[in-house]
Amino acid sequence: MLEIKYELKPQRKKEQFVSDKSLGFGLLRTDHMFLMDYSDGKWHSARIIPYQELNLFPGAVSLHYGQNIFEGLKAFKHKDREIYTFRIDKHAERFNNSAEALCMPKISIEDQIQAIHSLVDIDRNLFPEVKDASFYIRPFMFGTQDCLGVKPSNTYTYCVIISPSGSYYPQGFHPIKLLITKQFHRAAPGGIGNAKTGGNYAASLRAAVKAASFGAKQVLYTDVNNKTIEEAGAMNHFHVTKDREIIIPKFTDTILKSVTSTSIIELASRLGCKVKQETIYLDEFIKGINNGFVTEAGGLGTAAVVSPVGTYVFDDGKELIVGNGEAGPITRKMYNLFTAIQIGEEKAPEGWLKKVQRKL
Ligand SMILES: Cc1ncc(COP(=O)(O)O)c(C=O)c1O
Repeated sequence: MLEIKYELKPQRKKEQFVSDKSLGFGLLRTDHMFLMDYSDGKWHSARIIPYQELNLFPGAVSLHYGQNIFEGLKAFKHKDREIYTFRIDKHAERFNNSAEALCMPKISIEDQIQAIHSLVDIDRNLFPEVKDASFYIRPFMFGTQDCLGVKPSNTYTYCVIISPSGSYYPQGFHPIKLLITKQFHRAAPGGIGNAKTGGNYAASLRAAVKAASFGAKQVLYTDVNNKTIEEAGAMNHFHVTKDREIIIPKFTDTILKSVTSTSIIELASRLGCKVKQETIYLDEFIKGINNGFVTEAGGLGTAAVVSPVGTYVFDDGKELIVGNGEAGPITRKMYNLFTAIQIGEEKAPEGWLKKVQRKL
């Protein structure tokens, strides 16, 4: 159990979130942040303070050698006016897996939950009262030792910030386009592709710029041999077959184990579909779209939720349209069930939603 010190701003008046569009996704911040430091083998100085700049030595290991990790999870307001975090334990578990991959210290699941819930509780009055709103919560950890040498830091800071957010895709539930390129790869076997660390996203920026030049929202990465489908820049991938099977690439060390994908797998019976994980060969996938075996496709992620993919574009500019290019019925069903569970309108499986207790 953490002993948290509070240094609070005088409560701001409730912000006026006029519409979903004015909110955006990830742009705004609440009033406070959670901080905790690590030195001499221990976490200490847990505190909630006003949102502000961080103090960091210019030689901090994380700035030079990228020793940082993060998570992205959401909280929702239900009809009872209480706020619930979604699958926070799964995100906390993955945070510790990322910590292990980057030689960083872990934080117990209970302490992560306490840190996040305490911050949400303090800033609960800033939850936006608009449709599709969430608190997008960003816990992160970075090496702080002032040391120009490639080795694990001996000091760290853990921080949590919150962004009151609207929908990731303000245009609504419309199919997106993904670029399939042989030019860039996101992760290599034996690397850290299954960790949520800044370097993986830095490595995706050039590819994302190329995707945008094709009018595509993200890149759908293949393995380094351009043979199998891995995942997109910020979401896992799925497709649906004409036999009503939802297929998600097998989790490997080059794919982030998505909490959304895991949840869809667990919801299979309520979706009325089989959900399978397997190795997906790109040439078979393309053949499947052309001969109608693949009927729908999309992405899965906390931010993007369930995003239908209508079109794939390749390096030569050729396009491949999935079905009739529109969001399909199973993708829509996945989205509807998943979001209804998050906002408390459909029954959530045991433990998926945790109520943020009112302490102050
Ligand atoms: C590379 C990558 N893959 C997949 C996902 C989806 O994971 P989750 O559903 O846990 O948000 C994300 C987003 O977190 C991501 O950044």
